[in-house]
Amino acid sequence: MAQINVLHGPNLNMLGKREPGHYGNDTLQDINTRLITLAVTEGYQCECFQSNAEFELINKIHQYGEQQVDFIIINPAAFTHTSIAIRDALLAVNIPFIEVHLSNVYQRETFRHHSYFSDVAKGTITGLGAQGYEFALQSAMTQLQLQKN
Ligand code: DQA
Repeated sequence: MAQINVLHGPNLNMLGKREPGHYGNDTLQDINTRLITLAVTEGYQCECFQSNAEFELINKIHQYGEQQVDFIIINPAAFTHTSIAIRDALLAVNIPFIEVHLSNVYQRETFRHHSYFSDVAKGTITGLGAQGYEFALQSAMTQLQLQKN
């Protein structure tokens, strides 16, 4: 059974309370529950992990490489704009990934306009709220299905 894992970066554990105008009212638990349900219904395995620490996200990506995880969905949060190290980890394991942002980063401060991930991601979804994760999961499942055929 193919494995699609979801990584959430710093401060996303605060969803539901954190700047709802930008990030909506869903908690991270709400988002993860929907993703796991959708994945399992379609016959995929899905694990979600959040960390506020860059090295924990990097270690998790290395683990995913060893476990031969098939696809990653990642919202690197503020690390989007700073972390060459997480970018390098994703390139090192060579697992395809989709970058997701709840808010439309291009409608916000200019420091949010640059991503260390977009040019090496399969695709990027920004500004569609929590549903963006579900679109990313749908796309990951379609891409994996096409690979099999
Ligand atoms: C974010 C956008 C980032 O700029 C910000 O630092 C976040 C969340 C988003 O989901 O919209 O923490 O990745």
